[in-house]
Amino acid sequence: MGRTVLVVGGGGREHALAIGLVESPSVDSVHVAPGNAGTAQIATNHPVSASDVDGQVGLAQTLGVDLVVVGPEAPLVAGLSDALRAIGIPSFGPHADGAMLEGSKDFAKQVMLDLGIPTAGVQHLTQETDLDEAIDRWGSPWVVKRDVLAGGKGVVVTENRDEALEFIQSSIESDGMVLLEEFLAGEEASMLVMMDESGFVALPCSQDHKRVSEGDVGLNTGGMGAYAPAPVVTKEVRNRAIQEIVEPMHVHLSSQSTPYRGCLYVGLMIDEMGAPSVVEYNVRFGDPETQVTVPLISSDLCDLLLAVAEGRLAHSMPTFHDAHAMTVVLAAEGYPGPPVKGRLIGGDISPDWQPMAEGKYLIHHAGTGLENGKLISTGGRVLAATGISENSLESAKNLAYKCLSKVQLEGSHFRRDIGHRAL
Ligand code: AMP
Ligand code: GLY
Repeated sequence: MGRTVLVVGGGGREHALAIGLVESPSVDSVHVAPGNAGTAQIATNHPVSASDVDGQVGLAQTLGVDLVVVGPEAPLVAGLSDALRAIGIPSFGPHADGAMLEGSKDFAKQVMLDLGIPTAGVQHLTQETDLDEAIDRWGSPWVVKRDVLAGGKGVVVTENRDEALEFIQSSIESDGMVLLEEFLAGEEASMLVMMDESGFVALPCSQDHKRVSEGDVGLNTGGMGAYAPAPVVTKEVRNRAIQEIVEPMHVHLSSQSTPYRGCLYVGLMIDEMGAPSVVEYNVRFGDPETQVTVPLISSDLCDLLLAVAEGRLAHSMPTFHDAHAMTVVLAAEGYPGPPVKGRLIGGDISPDWQPMAEGKYLIHHAGTGLENGKLISTGGRVLAATGISENSLESAKNLAYKCLSKVQLEGSHFRRDIGHRAL
């Protein structure tokens, strides 16, 4: 009999994981909690919030699942994987202590410094700090990070000294402290590493587009589009990142009393000499990076995730398609500020991959729901159009934008330049 899997979360990342699991030959049934209108078309949704640890554990028990795949960081930080493992249910995603690598930027920085992993220098600022002296130590641009889970919105990078100072002061007021980081110049890339105590494997590297507007300007977002593989991560860069960043982390995490089992998302900054350093760690798959990474895995996704959850990845290494993927996010009016929700989504939104001469495309749902049988927007990032092509990144891009052109949502916006650094 095939496996039953529960995916925790309800964004585009979870829709991509659910699609990959539905396509896994070893899987019989896929459940998603809470899911979205896209996951409802291919799996069974359950109205349990992703951060409701007790609710998710109860659901996993009731369904008798063989595996839980945790999408977002909040339930990991709150101990969902610990609770599942305690009752014998394999969970993809680290235990609460491992999740602190994302839960606290200060903690993550200390681990990197202890292990000699290349990363930006940091100053801790509190009420007692001479802010003028601190802020002039490295000068512009200023990188200020609150040490809280803020969904990518707790960071300000600015060349405006007053803006930096204001954010520092308000953060110290609300949190008691804030981090001021050295600015790293270069090009960013995302390395998603599947990891357990038996081994690790880096998936094809991708590049996200964090700023809201074309040309990488405007406010930071959760991510407006991504593509993979990202050519900025050459073989040499990849080897260096693995040697200097991933291997020491793997040794460290595997030596803990409870090993890390899940995805370690390494946010890389690659300087002009090709030297990688760490901008951030996340303890989960990226969103929208997952939408362009899962389709590039050619082996059974469930076999891979379950192997990691059970600590036997070394014996179950994945294989990959030699192809290109691009995803373009359609955001609601107002995003990344408070989004307008509840609008009708119209046009051609098929639940399946649409084959074309150059490849295939589909819509990954994120902030979507059903109201009286009609598809409506329910969040800031509403959906993403994803194209896959064996020919070229250009073809994947054409497919993604062709797919997106068929969707209608009043007031929505998207970036027309996804992939501009590679094309
Ligand atoms: P984080 O949440 O730490 O990933 O920061 C959000 C974004 O801010 C990153 O994706 C980078 O674009 C930018 N950023 C963060 N830290 C630095 C840094 N030290 N130097 C340059 N840019 C940074
Ligand atoms: N796309 C950035 C993230 O998932 O954190």
